[in-house]
Amino acid sequence: MEYILKMENITKSFPGVKALDSVTMKIRAGKVHALIGENGAGKSTLMKILTGIHSHDSGTITYKDQVIVPMNPKEMSVRGISIIHQEFNLLPDLTVAENIYVTREPKLFGNMVVDDKKMVKNAKKLLGSLGLNLDPTAIVETLSVAEKQMVEIAKALVVDSDILVLDEPTSALAENEVQKLFEIIRDLKRKGVAIIYISHRLEEFDHIVDEVTVLRDGTFVSTKEWSKTTIAEMICDMVGRKLDEQYPERKNEIGEIVFEAKHVNRGSKVQDISLHVRKGEVIGIAGLMGAGRSEFARAVFGADKMTSGTIIVDGKKINPKSPNTAIKNGIAYLTEDRKTDGLFLDLEVDTNILAGNLHQNTTFGLVDDRELNKKVKNIIKSMNIKTPSNKQLCKFLSGGNQQKVLIGRWIMKNAHVYIFDEPTRGIDVGAKYEVYTLMNKLASAGAGIIMISSEMPEIMGMSDRIYVLSEGVLMGEMSSMKASQEMIMHLASGFEKKKGEVING
Ligand SMILES: Nc1ncnc2c1ncn2[C@@H]1O[C@H](COP(=O)(O)OP(=O)(O)OP(=O)(O)O)[C@@H](O)[C@H]1O
Ligand SMILES: [Mg+2]
Repeated sequence: MEYILKMENITKSFPGVKALDSVTMKIRAGKVHALIGENGAGKSTLMKILTGIHSHDSGTITYKDQVIVPMNPKEMSVRGISIIHQEFNLLPDLTVAENIYVTREPKLFGNMVVDDKKMVKNAKKLLGSLGLNLDPTAIVETLSVAEKQMVEIAKALVVDSDILVLDEPTSALAENEVQKLFEIIRDLKRKGVAIIYISHRLEEFDHIVDEVTVLRDGTFVSTKEWSKTTIAEMICDMVGRKLDEQYPERKNEIGEIVFEAKHVNRGSKVQDISLHVRKGEVIGIAGLMGAGRSEFARAVFGADKMTSGTIIVDGKKINPKSPNTAIKNGIAYLTEDRKTDGLFLDLEVDTNILAGNLHQNTTFGLVDDRELNKKVKNIIKSMNIKTPSNKQLCKFLSGGNQQKVLIGRWIMKNAHVYIFDEPTRGIDVGAKYEVYTLMNKLASAGAGIIMISSEMPEIMGMSDRIYVLSEGVLMGEMSSMKASQEMIMHLASGFEKKKGEVING
C-alpha cells in the first residue's frame, strides 16, 4: 500500500461557490503532508469531506485500499481518521478534562457514572506527556486562546488515529508551544501516523513537512517534496504569481506622541508597563505566551480594569473604564480571539463590517446607505475578502476571510491609536501583505499602531520600534534597525529577569 489515503477528483459546490473542482491528494503513512493555499482555496472543505462533515458531489476516496464514503466525524474517528479543526469545538463551561474525554469518559458502576477521578488523572497524564502544564479541572472558558488550542490537540490524541488532520494548529500558538506541537507530530510520525497539516506559516515547514500540496481557488496546483522546493516557489504556486516582498515599504513622517501608557498594572499579569507610540509609527510588542501582551491591551482598552496606571491619548488623559469609552477616546483594539470577540457568524458580511461603526458615518444623524455601501465595497475589495456578495452570511466564509471582515470593521473606525493583536494569524501571504499595507496607510494618516505578534519575522519586518514583554514585565525596548531575532527571544524568555532574581536573592 503506497498510499494510506487517496482523495481523487473531489468536487464540491456550495450555493454560489465552487469550493473544490476535481482536487486530488494522496497521503502516505508516517509522513507529514502539508496542504496550503490562499484563504478560501478549499483546504478546510477538503478535510471536512474526508471527515464526513460535508459530502462531496463527485470523486473517490480510497482509504487502506478500500473505497469509502465518509458519513460523519464519529464514524471516521472510529475508522482512524481524526481532525483538529480550525474553529475551536470546545465546550466552554466544562473543564479541560471533560472536554478532552467528551463522549469517551471513563465510567463507574457498570457504565452508569462518569469516573471523574480517573478522568482527571488520565487527563493530567496525557497533558503531562504532551509537556503541557494545564490544570485538568480548569474551566475551558478561562483559558487563553493558545491553551484552548492545546486542549483541542490533546482531545484529538486521546484516540489512536492512522490519519490526523491539523487545520491551522499553530496560528494560535507562540514559539515555545509550536515547538512542543512539533515534538508531538514527530512522535506520531515515528508511530506511523499520517498527518495532514494545514498552515499559512511556511517558515515552520522545515521542521516537520515531507510533502506539500497546493490548492488555488478550489483547484489542484501541485504536489511536491518539501525538501525539493522553496518557499518562494510555494508562494508562487499559491498566489499564481511571484511575490517580491513580504512587507510593504513605509515612508512616514514620525510625529508627536499620540498614545502613552504610564505604569500600567493589572494584577500580576501586567506589572508597571510604560510605553508610547508616535503618530505615523508602528511599534511591535513581542513575547511568549503568557507574557501579558493581550492583558496589557485589554486593560488599556477598558476590557479589563487597570489596577493602576495612566493612559494618555493625543495629549489628553483618559480613563478607559469600558471599551466604549476607549473607542470614544480614539483607541481601537482588534483582539486575538476573533471567534468569541466579535464576529456575528449568522449575519451578513456588510452588517459585520458596519457593526459599531454607524455613528461615525452619519450626516445630521442620518445614515447614508449609499455612502456606507460604497465604503463596505471598498473594504471588501481592498482586503480581497473572498465572498460571493456583501450579503453572504459570515459563517459561510473561510476562516481567513472571516478574520479579514473583522479587521475591516476596525479599520473603519477613525482612531488615534490602533492595537492589532496577532493581526495576520491564519491569513495567507497575499492577504498579510494587504493587512500590512492597511496598517501603513493608517499610520501615514497620522495614527499610531501597536502590533502584538508572536511571529518574529512580522515583528522585525513591520515595526519601527519593538518592546519585549515577559511574564507581565517590560524587558526591553529597541529600534528595529538594531534588533535581532536572538535578542528578542533572549529578552522574551525572561532569562535576564531570572538571572537578576538569583543575584538579588
Ligand atoms: N458551508 C459553506 N457554505 C457556503 N460556502 C462555503 C461553506 N464552507 C466553505 N465555503 C466556501 O468555500 C470556499 C472554500 O472555503 P474553505 O473554508 O475550504 O477555505 P480554506 O482554504 O480553508 O481557507 P482559510 O485559509 O481561510 O481557512 C470559500 O469560498 C468559502 O467561502
Ligand atoms: Mg480553512
